[in-house]
Amino acid sequence: MGSLKGKDILHGNQFSRKEIDVILKIASDFKKELKKKDSLTLLRGKILATLFYEPSTRTRLSFEAAMQRLGGGVIGMGSVESSSVAKGETLADTVQTVCQYADAIVIRHPRTGSAKEAADVAPIPVINAGDGTGQHPTQALLDIYTIKKEIGSLKNLTIAMVGDLKNGRTVHALVELLSLFQTRLYFVSPGALRMPEAITANLKGKGIDVVETEDMMKAASESDLLYMTRIQKERFEDLSEYERIKGYYIIDGDFLGKLKKKITILHPLPRVNEISPEVDSYPGAAYFRQVRNGVFIRMALLAMVLGKR
Ligand code: NCD
Repeated sequence: MGSLKGKDILHGNQFSRKEIDVILKIASDFKKELKKKDSLTLLRGKILATLFYEPSTRTRLSFEAAMQRLGGGVIGMGSVESSSVAKGETLADTVQTVCQYADAIVIRHPRTGSAKEAADVAPIPVINAGDGTGQHPTQALLDIYTIKKEIGSLKNLTIAMVGDLKNGRTVHALVELLSLFQTRLYFVSPGALRMPEAITANLKGKGIDVVETEDMMKAASESDLLYMTRIQKERFEDLSEYERIKGYYIIDGDFLGKLKKKITILHPLPRVNEISPEVDSYPGAAYFRQVRNGVFIRMALLAMVLGKR
């Protein structure tokens, strides 16, 4: 295998179905190995650098956990304010510096295209952990892994994506992967937060069945899975517009009661108010299992880009 050795992970469109199968298999294998042992030694001596220019809980901590479970080490820039970024250092200079210390870089940055900029100057693998409203490919892979584990198959699915489809990088990456499986898609959003036209047109060009609607109940009643997303407050220029839209879609006990069928619910998290906590005990609520799967997927990706799988 080793097809990802030395490669960057930048965009959901870079993977073939075959590669996805391999990544999911390696993630499953690591999950099994971790049942037997707390940690492995595959990446002993390797160092991962984390460059997070935007807030993160799950993505950063799961990359750190993944690297440490594989026996490797992690160095991090800490906050932007405590690094030389605060002195005005360019992204290219920071990246070229970090390459002198580490074997791979994980980067999150508010500018779309920034991970690619980093990869262009880095001789080591760069993994995009979210570039502005652009892409979040490792989240998409853990989402696909979770869908397969929860539903049993990736074939013949109908998925409703709900919320901020304009600014949400997780859905922008996930639709790229789902398009390889001919998934039927509902895009549920307020008019102002529709999926970018270029993405929708590209999907339709690939023969994917896409329906755009504002009606979450209708979409949910015809779907196997609801992928909820947070309204991305930090991307709004006009905060009054955010306040107007933020309560638009909420899943609660009342909604699930009216739905009258079991549905799988994913969310990349963090949530604000779009899934009420009472939903957490619903059998189809899979978002915390989804969080855990992030560790196995990131173990697979780190092992692969570092040439050990
Ligand atoms: C997402 C992100 O940062 O894009 N979080 C994550 O990585 N799980 C989703 C979000 O912030 O809404």
